[in-house]
Amino acid sequence: MSDGLENVVAAHTVLSDVDGAAGRLVIRGHSLDELAGHTSFEQMVALMLDGFVPDLPAAKDLPAALGAARRELFDTVVVKAALPAKLGPVEMVRAMTALIPDGEDAGAALRLLAAPAVFTPAALRLRQGLAPVAPDPALPQAADMLRMLTGVAPTQAQAAALDTYLVTVADHGLNASTFAARVVASTRAGLVSAVLAGISALKGPLHGGAPGPVIEMLDAIGSPANARTWLEAALDRGDRLMGFGHRVYRVRDPRADALKGAIRRLGPDGGRLALAEAVEQAALAILRERKPNRTLETNVEFYTALLLEALGFTPDSFTCVFALGRTVGWLAHAHEQIAGGKLIRPQSVYVGPQPRQAA
Ligand code: ACO
Repeated sequence: MSDGLENVVAAHTVLSDVDGAAGRLVIRGHSLDELAGHTSFEQMVALMLDGFVPDLPAAKDLPAALGAARRELFDTVVVKAALPAKLGPVEMVRAMTALIPDGEDAGAALRLLAAPAVFTPAALRLRQGLAPVAPDPALPQAADMLRMLTGVAPTQAQAAALDTYLVTVADHGLNASTFAARVVASTRAGLVSAVLAGISALKGPLHGGAPGPVIEMLDAIGSPANARTWLEAALDRGDRLMGFGHRVYRVRDPRADALKGAIRRLGPDGGRLALAEAVEQAALAILRERKPNRTLETNVEFYTALLLEALGFTPDSFTCVFALGRTVGWLAHAHEQIAGGKLIRPQSVYVGPQPRQAA
């Protein structure tokens, strides 16, 4: 028994390994360095789902199959959905995803892999009073998502940066949302239900909801000269510095540098990199001074915020883009769980009152 299942091993997996002491992430036998910046979203899908989804199109046919799924979702869900404008982007994406018929087949997997790419730009445009842009099934998914967001074709560097992000966050051991997806998959409820569980767990601020506040912090700091004073004041108030610290990593999160590299490659389109680097250096120095016995390093969310902001996503939609990348992992884990055939059903220790004995 362990609160939060901390240090409890709950699955064998061939999918990914997070080494928190060495700061190493291995995904299906490849280090993150080998994959991020060298692999497209479609290639990552082929790698992660290889051997798990019967009838999934071959790697060379995946771009067209995902394009067709985007088109189908736009025609059957986006143009028909009447969603309250009050919903935030994550709730909108979750509501539209819930309209996909459940199942465990390749068709359900393809629709789920296409869903956040179509629904996120549509949700953001609907909120602004703009008409959603229809997908172009001939484009790779990352490029098409950016085109549906802004209405214009992205540069090659922007599409490559989004691919790097999606690959970087595709899988990360038995994190909360992946565990939630595996629990639901183990009941044989279907992949749509498993992914909805994943999105619901991901949106929490203790999991995938953290990068929005990084933007608020950078906005409040404004210029490198203000960094130290602002950060000291935040810690004096008892606040945590967003984008720093991690439950598993005791060294720098390897995903932070994968994303920083992607921002650098964007060149002048890379947004507020100089400010972010100054804030990062100041934050690391202050955290070392204040918590000498605890290693608090930059985590994935710090540069996620910078990268997704530079690509034109709003802070409240960052979690939707995270969900697109992580759907690859959720589906692979769901299938791995289904293949094992075992229902996840732990036990609890009852500590409440006992019924009164008859006199
Ligand atoms: N800023 C300031 N102090 C921190 C931070 C931080 N970002 N993170 C941890 N600490 C301090 C805590 O105050 C605590 O200090 P104390 O021992 O003096 O009380 C100590 O470090 C340990 O904190 P815990 O909460 O026990 O550490 P845990 O490993 O459980 O926390 C977490 C991990 C939740 C990510 C934490 O580091 C945090 O809140 N970071 C900021 C939010 C954030 O960036 N989240 C994204 C994480 S990445 C992801 O989920 C995809």
